[in-house]
Amino acid sequence: MEENRGKWSSRFGFLMAAVGSAVGLGNLWKFPYLAGENGGGAFVAVYIVLVVILGFTLILAEMSIGRRANKDAYGAYGKIKKGFGFIGGLGILSGFLILSYYSVVGGWVLKYVVSSFTGVGADKALFFNEFVGSSFEPIIYHLIFMGLTALIVSRGIAGGIEKASKVLMPALFVILVVIAIRSLTLDGAMAGINYFIRPNFSEITVKVVVAALGQVFFSLSLGMGIMVTYGSYLSKDEDLEKDAFIIPALDSMVAIIAGFAILPAVFAFGFEPTQGPGLIFITLPAVFESMPLGMLFSALFFILILFAALSSSISLMEVTVSFGIDQFKWSRKVSVIFFTSLMFIIGIGASLSMGLWSDFLIPWIDGGRYNIFDFLDVITSYYLLPLGGLLSAIFVAYVWGTKDAVKEIKEGSTFKFEKIWIILIKFVVPVLVFIILLSTTGLLDKISEFLQNLF
Ligand code: PHE
Repeated sequence: MEENRGKWSSRFGFLMAAVGSAVGLGNLWKFPYLAGENGGGAFVAVYIVLVVILGFTLILAEMSIGRRANKDAYGAYGKIKKGFGFIGGLGILSGFLILSYYSVVGGWVLKYVVSSFTGVGADKALFFNEFVGSSFEPIIYHLIFMGLTALIVSRGIAGGIEKASKVLMPALFVILVVIAIRSLTLDGAMAGINYFIRPNFSEITVKVVVAALGQVFFSLSLGMGIMVTYGSYLSKDEDLEKDAFIIPALDSMVAIIAGFAILPAVFAFGFEPTQGPGLIFITLPAVFESMPLGMLFSALFFILILFAALSSSISLMEVTVSFGIDQFKWSRKVSVIFFTSLMFIIGIGASLSMGLWSDFLIPWIDGGRYNIFDFLDVITSYYLLPLGGLLSAIFVAYVWGTKDAVKEIKEGSTFKFEKIWIILIKFVVPVLVFIILLSTTGLLDKISEFLQNLF
């Protein structure tokens, strides 16, 4: 029965799939524009500190849960301790919501691969806004992207996810480095480099820290059971400690190289880095146009993003699909078809909210200022993923217990950082994430106001 779940066929294949999950639109689309919007170097500095503290700790925790339980995210928590399946369930819900809008952006990327050859006209912003705001075309691209994801996932762990990742990830890396070199050697690249790497510490505000935290969770695929699920297909001799270093290190490296590929070019051609989500879609086509061999670089660049997005969307889909397989005893095909259809439908709402439904705002959070698309993004990155991470840390530290977790990790690893990891997972990570979550929800302000009134 366990055999039916599937297994990675090699260590390299597993690593490429895990890195593939982490490296995605988060690194290439979100990271550069978030850095652009939040003071460049200040954001990058906070981001790196949080990756070092959270990445290693939580990836290791999630993988050990998965490998120990050999189950989907919901089943794994419940198997280790009865009644705690809801932590995995929360993660599955997050993955489901993320993929619904992630796939819409994946569709935009597909459109831009095509447009690299056909051109986007003189007014890049107009082209982008008209495209994403229209009711029909983006949904077709969203459907194609979702279909590609479903096709890979339906082929299973070794034959689908692993095989695809082993090709996509190395290709992505090579293309990214080529583009970064091109961008860094442009006249006027220096201003962009400065903006990106020189931290102005006075610009570190609560907003910057909150944005960086959400980005760390999103980019490392944390707090939603992906590493639990992927870990469940691992064998006992895998060195989890080493993997927990490699995955966040490679993910951050790609994010930073992406910054070097994008921001210098943005500055060199006199654009503003504070464009927001349109940064790569509006600014970059203009950048490429003014570059020799621009069409080629543009096509390469958007293919690169497409690869990155696909290897992440398959991990998002796998979390829900393995839930269907393990919990409802569905076949992989049925599970894929069922969840793909649901996510496709929610994605339609996300897509339409860029145009037809842009006035339809979700009232539940932050005073109701988000349309469906932004709501799905904000509720997952800033609320659900950090909450999932917090709960998984508490689960490992105090429910399962670090003693048993350490035993699981030591099956295939000498676990050099055992003592540090225990301190991080028991105290540092829960406290840190809790405080930032409080400030995200605005509760921190209310508490400090209350205390001030008291004294
Ligand atoms: N980490 C992926 C990215 O950076 C997105 C993702 C988030 C994937 C959460 C899985 C889980 O694009």
